[in-house]
Amino acid sequence: MLVLVTGATGFVGNWVVAELLARGHGVRCLVRPGSEGKLKAADRVAVFLGDVLDEAAVNQAVQGCEAVVHLVGIIREFPRRGITFERLHVEATKNVVDAARAAGVQRYLQMSALGARPEPADPYHITNFRADEYVMASGLTYTIFRPSVIYGPEDQALNLLVRQIKAFRVVPVIGKGLYQLQPVAVWAVAQAFALALELPHTENRIYEVGGPEPLSFNAIIDSLAFEVRRRILKIRLPVWPFRLAAFLLGRFAWFSLTSGQLRMLLEGNTCDPAPFYHDFGLTPISFKDGLIRYLT
Ligand SMILES: NC(=O)c1ccc[n+]([C@@H]2O[C@H](COP(=O)([O-])OP(=O)(O)OC[C@H]3O[C@@H](n4cnc5c(N)ncnc54)[C@H](OP(=O)(O)O)[C@@H]3O)[C@@H](O)[C@H]2O)c1
Repeated sequence: MLVLVTGATGFVGNWVVAELLARGHGVRCLVRPGSEGKLKAADRVAVFLGDVLDEAAVNQAVQGCEAVVHLVGIIREFPRRGITFERLHVEATKNVVDAARAAGVQRYLQMSALGARPEPADPYHITNFRADEYVMASGLTYTIFRPSVIYGPEDQALNLLVRQIKAFRVVPVIGKGLYQLQPVAVWAVAQAFALALELPHTENRIYEVGGPEPLSFNAIIDSLAFEVRRRILKIRLPVWPFRLAAFLLGRFAWFSLTSGQLRMLLEGNTCDPAPFYHDFGLTPISFKDGLIRYLT
């Protein structure tokens, strides 16, 4: 199939592109001008320059494609620069879906997020939910993926913790650290996106995606420290200073935590991933095995 990928220059996007190429698909990428250098397989894909919010650019990129993989999304808003959840999740998805429908695309794959739901929820989750609703009502043959945190080489979240563990050996834990996440390996996510194009029983389905088991934040830190062979000291700190700091400083790009991110972390992010592994015929990779593959 000829597949249009949005968000191909990102962490997950580069893995998805590699997997699509490995399975024999032709790949076209919609890339923002200036981001071409982040596309690892640039010499093996067709690059169309443009912004996902630019209708004309999206319409042009999708012409002649049989499938679309829409991965663009943000974890943090910068309203002054026009980077909002509303625009990058809802409007971007509308653009891509409308273009795909007009071009007669057969298969549409949407990246969403675990926890996507209507209010009451964080705007990140609400806008992902509304984007998913638009996909479902579009008449396209879709598959929607809602992953928990995705880890692998070059991920933003766990690599930050690894750097901290290696540099300081002291890790601040927000609250008791009992909130749970379900980290999933990026190569499992990428495989599933590529396989969805070949597996009719995955059509018009939503999949919650996670590693084989929920892990507390404490357990994640311990596993990371073990794999990078560092003895660490976890310091449990009350939640309120983080709340205050995120409230006061979260709008600055240099500060790494927003109020929304803190709320979502404390709320936890887990699922039953059994239908995902079953339907895609994938073997769950334990967090420990996944870390060995990407940290050593
Ligand atoms: N990573 C996770 O743990 C995780 C978990 C659940 C869901 N997700 C979802 O998975 C998707 C990919 O995540 P990721 O970690 O790979 O994110 P990422 O590394 O930040 O990549 C985001 C991608 O979106 C592109 N993009 C952003 N704004 C754009 C615009 N206006 N026009 C065109 N492209 C634009 C970026 O392009 P540039 O290179 O030009 O910036 C980049 O290719 C997102 O939707 C995210 O919400 C991720």
